[in-house]
Amino acid sequence: MNSLQVEATSTARVLEEKIRTRRARVGIIGLGYVGLPLAVEFAKAGFDVTGIDLSDAKTDRVNAGDSYIGDISSSLLGPLVKSGKLRATTDFSVVRELDTVNICVPTPLRKTKDPDMSYIVSACGEIAKHFHSGMLVILESTTYPGTTDEVVLPMLEQGGLKVGQDFFLCFSPERVDPGNPKYNTSNIPKVVGGTTAACSEMGHVFYSQALQQVVAVSSTQVAEMVKLLENTFRMINIGLANEIALMCDRMGINVWEVIEAAATKPFGFMPFFPGPGLGGHCIPIDPFYLSWKTKQAGFEARFIELAGYINGQMPHFVVDKVQNALNEHAKPVKGSHIHIVGVAYKKNIDDVRESPAVDIMLLLKRLGARITFSDPHVASMQLEDSRLASDDISQVAAADCTVIITDHSAFDYPQIAKQARLIVDTRNALKGIKSDKIVRL
Ligand SMILES: NC(=O)c1ccc[n+]([C@@H]2O[C@H](COP(=O)([O-])OP(=O)(O)OC[C@H]3O[C@@H](n4cnc5c(N)ncnc54)[C@H](O)[C@@H]3O)[C@@H](O)[C@H]2O)c1
Repeated sequence: MNSLQVEATSTARVLEEKIRTRRARVGIIGLGYVGLPLAVEFAKAGFDVTGIDLSDAKTDRVNAGDSYIGDISSSLLGPLVKSGKLRATTDFSVVRELDTVNICVPTPLRKTKDPDMSYIVSACGEIAKHFHSGMLVILESTTYPGTTDEVVLPMLEQGGLKVGQDFFLCFSPERVDPGNPKYNTSNIPKVVGGTTAACSEMGHVFYSQALQQVVAVSSTQVAEMVKLLENTFRMINIGLANEIALMCDRMGINVWEVIEAAATKPFGFMPFFPGPGLGGHCIPIDPFYLSWKTKQAGFEARFIELAGYINGQMPHFVVDKVQNALNEHAKPVKGSHIHIVGVAYKKNIDDVRESPAVDIMLLLKRLGARITFSDPHVASMQLEDSRLASDDISQVAAADCTVIITDHSAFDYPQIAKQARLIVDTRNALKGIKSDKIVRL
């Protein structure tokens, strides 16, 4: 994009020039799975980047060039810190010196499935204390449509500055896919929408300096809704795949073979796969941000509620499968040793947030089973009040039943199939291996 199209204030022109010449000082609030890769991308593009986080442990590690995010190697982070391009702090007063701020803080659900806006509100409260004219603020945390203009904007305008003139405000959904070897922050197209046309343009100019493709949309609400459509699409289609799996189970049909054959259709079909349940920070949570908001507008998001119900049943279905499999071998689940293979919420990553493995382990523990697990990406995990350490995979030989929850590439599946006494495979990880001791989802 050439220089700003809409009639720009002199404040806009100055900020645009700073961004285009990479003299703009960039701030990233929240240095997690989203924020740290984004900070690295802007530092790589030549900007002076400051990360702000509440956690001393994280800012200390960033300042030591020691990455705690799987997709960012310390050999990439270290030199950026050493060269002075990237630093981290817990002190929000640096906002006074910043030209841009991206907010990448968590947006969990409360127990009641209502959005928890407290992290966004807290971060914006801190920004507001040090806010100044000529800033670009971009919210990246996934949230319900309307958040940027209804929650963030009033907090930033309370000091008297006017959006679109004195400062610029956007929403840009984060699409990072941890563990994806092909797509990362820099090559995933970036959607951005502003509160005003000048804000959208400023957001476009900003991301274009560091990311390969930027897609500007007309408003913050459109940009917020884009993310929710994407994740709701995944959640509902996974729900459908899970329902088909439940149907196939009743009828004795191999669901994996069905999906694989259906996927040979070159148009009009996209494969989604069943599994032990949804996990992670996004797919199980984000659609409920949308249903919460639409409920306020008097509209019930019935697809979302139904898919949420079906997906929520999957851990119970897996536990039933384990119980039935043990019963067939005349072993009650009570007192049995059950070894879980993979506890991260998806393959090849170290994140156990919302992982269905946690639900399945808890359900089995409550039935009296003794639980161990192996995960090359997760050294230990919390299960109620006890901390479990990852065991050697050779435990499969000792366990009464092995349950494959996460199909990490690092596991030797033929070896697992050989050593285990009984296996419940929730991911079709043992595809092609024929054995009476394998029970598939
Ligand atoms: N992880 C993903 O794959 C992914 C993908 C797309 C979108 N998102 C969305 O991006 C947002 C961030 O997710 P994440 O996975 O990076 O979370 P995260 O928990 O990994 O990181 C968030 C960071 O923010 C910090 N933080 C919390 N409150 C703060 C505050 N008030 N001020 C400063 N720092 C604060 C935390 O200490 C943490 O380091 C969420 O809205 C999430 O839904 C995540």
